[in-house]
Amino acid sequence: MQRGGELYSGKAKSVYKTDNADQLILLFRDDTSAFDGEKIDQLDRKGMVNNKFNAFIMQLLEKNGIATHFESLISDNESLVKRLEMLPIECVVRNIAAGSICKRLGIEEGIDLKQPTFEFFLKNDPLHDPMINEYHIRSFGWASTEQCQQMTELTFKVNEILSNTFAQAGMTLVDFKLEFGMYQDKLLLGDEFTPDGCRIWDTATREKLDKDRFRRNLGDVVEAYEQVAERLGIELD
Ligand code: TMP
Ligand code: ASP
Repeated sequence: MQRGGELYSGKAKSVYKTDNADQLILLFRDDTSAFDGEKIDQLDRKGMVNNKFNAFIMQLLEKNGIATHFESLISDNESLVKRLEMLPIECVVRNIAAGSICKRLGIEEGIDLKQPTFEFFLKNDPLHDPMINEYHIRSFGWASTEQCQQMTELTFKVNEILSNTFAQAGMTLVDFKLEFGMYQDKLLLGDEFTPDGCRIWDTATREKLDKDRFRRNLGDVVEAYEQVAERLGIELD
């Protein structure tokens, strides 16, 4: 499959057309960004690690009944995906308090939630991805009631599947973000699932193994992603 023209370039991935109007190529670059693009850097091997990490997770989710855009790995840094009409919304599930919820609600990092919680954010960097609710989504037409229900249900289901997967490898899935889009009238999981868009802690030591290492200048960012991949049995080389 040949790469056609660039359709879109995000902070860490670029999206290209293919000769099939229903398929796109995702290129995972070595670029990394945090705080809505305020902090950026290039990390050797990150594109390859995230591409293979994402492929593993998407295939695992498919096996567990979650419909995704993922088609196949086509090179170290590229994957073939279905072309979705993306909804401008980010769906976050949290199992443990960390990140923005701690600031917003004055909660200490690391507290176990009594049950997983769910939040919608508007995908808008200049506005710093503000938190929104289902009424906002319906009032402004960003998605329908049915799409909101499906996104919520699917994100909780992904949480169950992946929390178990990480737990079996001695890791805790603290929180994560998903994005969805439409493909021929069906809602599919799109974008990516990598350590860039989730928090993963070593269960025993609570060591951070995700993008918080970059956000907080803890070092060994890609090394941590590789450790998670290795513990999940993902082949990188
Ligand atoms: P938060 O604590 O910053 O709200 O993020 C919660 C989780 O969702 C965290 O694992 C990071 C991920 N996330 C992104 O990857 N990109 C985003 O734009 C947002 C809002 C969250
Ligand atoms: N992914 C977003 C960014 O690059 C938010 C973050 O991870 O902090 O800026």
